[in-house]
Amino acid sequence: MVFQAPKLRIIYLLISIFLLLINPCATQIFFNYTDFSQTINNKPIIRTGNATISGSVIQLTPDEVDNWGRATYSEQMHLWDEKSEKVASFTSNFSFIIYSQGKYRYSDGIMFFLSTPNFPAPKPTDGAGLGLLSRRQMGQPSFLAANKFVAVEFDTFRNEEFDLDSVGEHVGININNMKSEISTPWYCTITENRTYSASINYDSSTQNLSVTFTGFNYDNTPIQQNLSLVINLTDHLPESVEFGFSASTGLISELHILSTWSFESTSPSTIQRSPAAPVGKNKDEPKTKLVVGLSLASALQYLHEEWEQCVLHRDIKSSNILLDSNLNAKLGDFGLARLVDHVKGSQTSALAGTWGYLAPECIMSGRASKETDVYSFGIVVLEIACGRKPAEPDAKQDEIIMLEWVWELYGARNLLKAADPRLGGDFDEPQMERLIAVGLWCAHPDYNARPSIRKVIHVLDFEDTLPILEPKLPVTTFLSLPSTASTSSTSKSENHDA
Ligand SMILES: *[C@@H]1O[C@H](CO)[C@@H](O)[C@H](O)[C@H]1NC(C)=O
Ligand SMILES: *[C@@H]1O[C@H](CO)[C@@H](O)[C@H](O)[C@H]1NC(C)=O
Ligand SMILES: *[C@@H]1O[C@H](CO)[C@@H](O)[C@H](O)[C@H]1NC(C)=O
Ligand SMILES: *[C@@H]1O[C@H](CO)[C@@H](O)[C@H](O)[C@H]1NC(C)=O
Ligand SMILES: *[C@@H]1O[C@H](CO)[C@@H](O)[C@H](O)[C@H]1NC(C)=O
Ligand SMILES: *[C@@H]1O[C@H](CO)[C@@H](O)[C@H](O)[C@H]1NC(C)=O
Ligand SMILES: *[C@@H]1O[C@H](CO)[C@@H](O)[C@H](O)[C@H]1NC(C)=O
Repeated sequence: MVFQAPKLRIIYLLISIFLLLINPCATQIFFNYTDFSQTINNKPIIRTGNATISGSVIQLTPDEVDNWGRATYSEQMHLWDEKSEKVASFTSNFSFIIYSQGKYRYSDGIMFFLSTPNFPAPKPTDGAGLGLLSRRQMGQPSFLAANKFVAVEFDTFRNEEFDLDSVGEHVGININNMKSEISTPWYCTITENRTYSASINYDSSTQNLSVTFTGFNYDNTPIQQNLSLVINLTDHLPESVEFGFSASTGLISELHILSTWSFESTSPSTIQRSPAAPVGKNKDEPKTKLVVGLSLASALQYLHEEWEQCVLHRDIKSSNILLDSNLNAKLGDFGLARLVDHVKGSQTSALAGTWGYLAPECIMSGRASKETDVYSFGIVVLEIACGRKPAEPDAKQDEIIMLEWVWELYGARNLLKAADPRLGGDFDEPQMERLIAVGLWCAHPDYNARPSIRKVIHVLDFEDTLPILEPKLPVTTFLSLPSTASTSSTSKSENHDA
């Protein structure tokens, strides 16, 4: 049991990297701010206007007239991607206080917004646009054309001017307009110091922007309220957006506090089939996530581009995600930061490297399947274990192609020679052997011989035995190719488990 922890770490890392490489819904942004006095991952929350840090919370505005404030994330969200025609899904959870300190007249409210980056300050300052824009800017078509926004407002003041609000306190969804597209009364009690929480979710597959938030019954028991709207965000926002909160006061005022904020978005530049799932957190659900789901309507060429894009994009993000999953310590332990760099490096190896991840039957037929994913996984496993690229043109003749070289060592019962020399022998030998053998098994040229990922996890966990592989890298003929691009759960590799 001494090696339990490192073993799990290796598996966890592999699964994370695998998901990075082929998970169609890789996480783009994730953060969880519960104390705004601390900056997480060097990505601060930017405050503008009158917003200040007060203890652990952000005071968007004090309880003083004619103030406005914003708190936005320091990185933009890649919301949609013209090239891939994909749109991100996201969730924004936050808790906040709006408190008039007992006054019965108060204004104006808080908004969560997505907007054109560097959205101008409200000028001249007034409370009407909840800290995002001014009454005058609201009436300027040229301003609105250049500065787009979609927002969820928690509006505490009935602004009858321009017929903006039809009720008093309400929650609304606003599309480039302070008159809500849709709204519902909000059962809040602004005269008292209460904390509200809200969850805003956009599911790009259904285009459903939905909001759930706290309200209070007459007897002051909390209830959950909700509001949703189907909206094509591509129509209303640029590809990359600024996002965060704004609040304002006007002739009358109230205190606006953002207490906590957690956020997650998926990447839009890859293929999206299933809803967002946090990367690396959920190894019990490999089915949906391990499916690459490359839809191969036409041409090897298309496949290649798609694949290259996935590899590139995920590589760029890999370090972020590993950090976000709190793997920092684990990376350090294994010297794996280096490996991440190494994986990152493979993006620059352009064609050779990219081809290196493609299963032979995939190259021949242009079809992706579960088995081709397993193949790619095998190659990544070998890269990590051996600390090298799938193809290294400058290596010795018989070491150029990683798979051929490692398989040769397997036949010679000398697998450990393939281990990353930079680890300096500092690893558990049975684990390393197993890791490399599993890599070979997954990268078997015959897709019928590859294991399922479930099997792989069992074997890496020493819960199952290693297979006996051919001593020489088998040469495949392509007499029988997988019949379809398989995204079902009953594929051949699954049957290997039986
Ligand atoms: C955010 O952090 C808090 C406090 O550590 C924790 O309770 C909460 O579950 C976290 N939320 C997410 C989405 O990770
Ligand atoms: C809010 O900002 C304005 C403009 O910078 C400033 O004049 C005003 O004093 C600020 N209000 C408070 C309460 O700090
Ligand atoms: C509101 O209540 C919170 C605790 O829920 C407290 O920390 C805060 O100081 C209160 N704010 C005011 C203005 O009373
Ligand atoms: C949008 O999502 C909400 C919350 O899940 C749900 O109640 C609502 O029915 C959904 N709307 C549509 C049109 O699917
Ligand atoms: C959504 O709000 C409606 C009332 O507006 C309520 O009937 C329904 O139960 C709420 N749904 C959820 C999931 O809270
Ligand atoms: C969303 O809007 C964009 C831009 O107008 C359009 O290209 C796309 O087809 C729309 N998506 C859907 C699902 O209607
Ligand atoms: C947001 O809240 C929902 C519901 O509690 C939770 O399932 C989800 O993981 C949260 N996401 C983030 C990023 O905080």
